[in-house]
Amino acid sequence: MYTPTPEDRFTFGLWTVGWQARDPFGDATRAPLDPVETLHRLAELGAYGVTFHDDDLLAVEPDRVKAVERFKRALAETGLRVPMATTNLFTHPVFKDGAFTSNDRDVRRYALRKVIRNIDLAAELGATTYVCWGGREGAESDAAKDVRAALDRYKEGLDLLCQYVVDKGYDIRFAIEPKPNEPRGDILLPTIGHALAFINGLAHSERVGLNPEVGHEQMAGLNFVHGIAQALWHGKLFHIDLNGQHGPKYDQDLVFGHGDVKSAFFLVDLLESGGYDGPRHFDYKPLRTEDSEDVWVSAAANMRTYLILKEKAKAFRADPEVQAALDASRVGALSQPTLAEGENYDDLFKDAFDPDQAGERGYHYSTLNQLALEHLLGVRGAA
Ligand code: GCO
Ligand code: MN
Ligand code: MN
Repeated sequence: MYTPTPEDRFTFGLWTVGWQARDPFGDATRAPLDPVETLHRLAELGAYGVTFHDDDLLAVEPDRVKAVERFKRALAETGLRVPMATTNLFTHPVFKDGAFTSNDRDVRRYALRKVIRNIDLAAELGATTYVCWGGREGAESDAAKDVRAALDRYKEGLDLLCQYVVDKGYDIRFAIEPKPNEPRGDILLPTIGHALAFINGLAHSERVGLNPEVGHEQMAGLNFVHGIAQALWHGKLFHIDLNGQHGPKYDQDLVFGHGDVKSAFFLVDLLESGGYDGPRHFDYKPLRTEDSEDVWVSAAANMRTYLILKEKAKAFRADPEVQAALDASRVGALSQPTLAEGENYDDLFKDAFDPDQAGERGYHYSTLNQLALEHLLGVRGAA
């Protein structure tokens, strides 16, 4: 019943299941994973596709041409798609001060070349989204980075990449992935809101949107569901990174739903009803404690959890008691414009309204919240 199929459009980064679990305190606990094996395992589990950084393809075959050939063959064998691709602009020491915003101009030029080369491959594989996660674009000292100049260079880089895609006639849009910190002390474009404002100033702003990640907004103490709703409102939810996080601490990249499960429930509810039709992309890391078979158990858990929450959200919306509670809380009434057609501000003064009386009236949100929780906990019926 919760078995995924390609129609669910679940996708995984090669770097997720392929993470060898090296952390700042300890060595790898798992062997390198062949991207070809990843494709076969994910296809067996019912995924729709994979995404990758340029360097992910080189996990077991250092020759880029050969690695790409093997990868393409495995894509054809498994029928998996590549809806999104991205660039590794953070591992090599050359990027220690950033890529598009490094203080070193030669590094900035090298970074752009690295992205352009992988955009060509992304286009060839049919990807329509290109993610830009600026993990190293930032600083640890406010003296070290002229943030306004850095934003000029960030804009210059994205404007150039958009122009490249336009000139080549590629059907590719860019999606910026905000993150507040880690690996840098402070990362530029730290939240959905910062990134949305930045996009407005770009030369090809229509071609640039967001790839928000659950854990990243939660690291900043923000409500991810609200962030996604606002991204949708701006028409900027181009892609999404689903995973789990327990509040403001280091980036946990847990299995989807293994962090704040109530937020995950409302997120699925929103994605399924809010007009997002892109892939459901998991960007998680199998725990360092897991062995190479546990990796696939955790991969399957992301998809199963999503499907369970999808069913729960549907049952929540279909429950007559929930519908009555939504009415009692006047949730639908917020969709009614505050002025009627033809009214203007003068009409506001014609209302017979007693603020003291209105101030006494409750909104009954505890009822709604409890109903959601009971659906989530499985004590209320299925749809
Ligand atoms: C993180 C980031 C990365 C990026 C990915 C794409 O967990 O810190 O989300 O996983 O999404 O590397 O560049
Ligand atoms: Mn993350
Ligand atoms: Mn991510």
